[in-house]
Amino acid sequence: MRAGHPPRSLTLSTLGFIAQRSSGTIADLMKQLNVGLIGGGTVGGGVYLALQRNGTLMSSRLGSNLRIAAVAVRDLSRPRSVDIPASLLTTDWRSVVENPDIPIICELMGGTTTAKTVVTTALRLGKSVITANKALLSAQGEELFALAEKHGANLYYEASVAGGVPIIKVLREGLIGNRITRLYGIVNGTCNYILTRMKLEGADFGEVLADAQRLGYAEAEPGLDVDGHDAAHKIGILASLAHGFWVDPKDIFTQGIREVNRVDIQFAGQLGYTIKLIGSVKRCDKGRAGSPVRAEVCVAPTLVPNSHVLANVNHVYNAVLVRGDVVGDTLYYGRGAGQDPTASAVLSDLADAALDLNCHDHLRIPPFVPHERGGSVVKMGDTISRYYLRLSVADRPGTLARVATILGEAKIGISSVIQPEGHEGESVPLILMIHDAAYSDVRKALTIIARLSVIKGAPVLFRVENFD
Ligand code: NAP
Ligand code: HSE
Repeated sequence: MRAGHPPRSLTLSTLGFIAQRSSGTIADLMKQLNVGLIGGGTVGGGVYLALQRNGTLMSSRLGSNLRIAAVAVRDLSRPRSVDIPASLLTTDWRSVVENPDIPIICELMGGTTTAKTVVTTALRLGKSVITANKALLSAQGEELFALAEKHGANLYYEASVAGGVPIIKVLREGLIGNRITRLYGIVNGTCNYILTRMKLEGADFGEVLADAQRLGYAEAEPGLDVDGHDAAHKIGILASLAHGFWVDPKDIFTQGIREVNRVDIQFAGQLGYTIKLIGSVKRCDKGRAGSPVRAEVCVAPTLVPNSHVLANVNHVYNAVLVRGDVVGDTLYYGRGAGQDPTASAVLSDLADAALDLNCHDHLRIPPFVPHERGGSVVKMGDTISRYYLRLSVADRPGTLARVATILGEAKIGISSVIQPEGHEGESVPLILMIHDAAYSDVRKALTIIARLSVIKGAPVLFRVENFD
């Protein structure tokens, strides 16, 4: 930055504040802020590289130099795809977190045990903490935010949801003047990558998952991705921000993508739909000021009409559709996993931390603002949706009639049926599209249907979404 030119993103009031506290020029205010990375893997390595590339640009915009002072890893001898100087590496994360010359700590190691100790130790020391760890936030968010407030620290978590898409900033700042009525997200890059390649290439689930792991998209434990838990962690964070009560992941109905097979993708296509893993948050109360919030929060494979924009979000891309009562529908799209997009989100948090430190106001924007009356998640059994049902049935006369009778007795309407021709006695798929029905009613009917001797294997049920 040239002498006399103010850093561009500082507001006039901020500059006035700084001018009162400093007798030097604005250039003298260019502080060095040391950053400690706990984790130098996919995300940590990405942050190191991105700061190498754009550190000067960020300094000119922020009025502070962000410098990586240390990187804690588990194993010094492990080969790394990013060349982090050996002088920065350590296996002793405490020496980084407790170093008084390092005011900003990025927890990029993952897991919920040591990672929690890292975050709480740093917050207790009043440090600015950045985390990409949605599993930790989902489980411990409320406790960590309270700890941050108690110690006058802040916790930043842009990288925890939707990779490079700045959706946390959107909900905390951009849409602050809105009540959020609907939020739909494709928030797991690995699942979207798998479903896309299964649809476009007819690829095999296991092979594509291995590719997602090689590309750095998947979690260390990939079951977190394909069983829907990672998406549930993220959708819970977004629901909490949108509605002001911390959503317990146990209250989120979570269905992963293991049951989605090529037959489903093909039949959904015939019916005009694409299957996506959708996290949805629907506000169900009347939205009166001061009344507690009630919201449906769920993650499930969902048939999305091909004409809808979310049907066309492919590969590792994520997208979040947010409907506010003032703004209407808004859409946020970008790469949802991998080294570079996630690093971009961490840089955004580094910028906020630097600005807050420069302004001496750690809680300028608190990490989470609770709704005055709290809120609750609607029980899944009480939610109403359309459904896609796949049964594996013996190809015998009368099978469809028996299934339709059971659904009819439960007052569940059928909107369309596909039954491919098979050979007498063979198992064939029977696909039914079901009108709006309560989940508990559908499940009860399926329990009875599953007992029929003509039904082979467990029924497969996915939601169908109209986005209204
Ligand atoms: P990763 O590649 O497995 O990296 C983890 C890093 O943490 C490694 O450098 C590892 O050291 C280090 N580490 C583990 N235990 C440690 C310990 N006890 N002390 C010091 N260092 C330790 O994982 P990642 O993909 O970067 O993910 C990190 C976090 O970001 C996770 O919370 C993940 O959910 C989140 N995230 C990931 C992505 C993504 O696309 N990958 C996107 C958004 C958020 P070694 O290198 O020596 O093994
Ligand atoms: N495993 C996660 C995903 C990483 O695939 O979306 C990004 O959070």
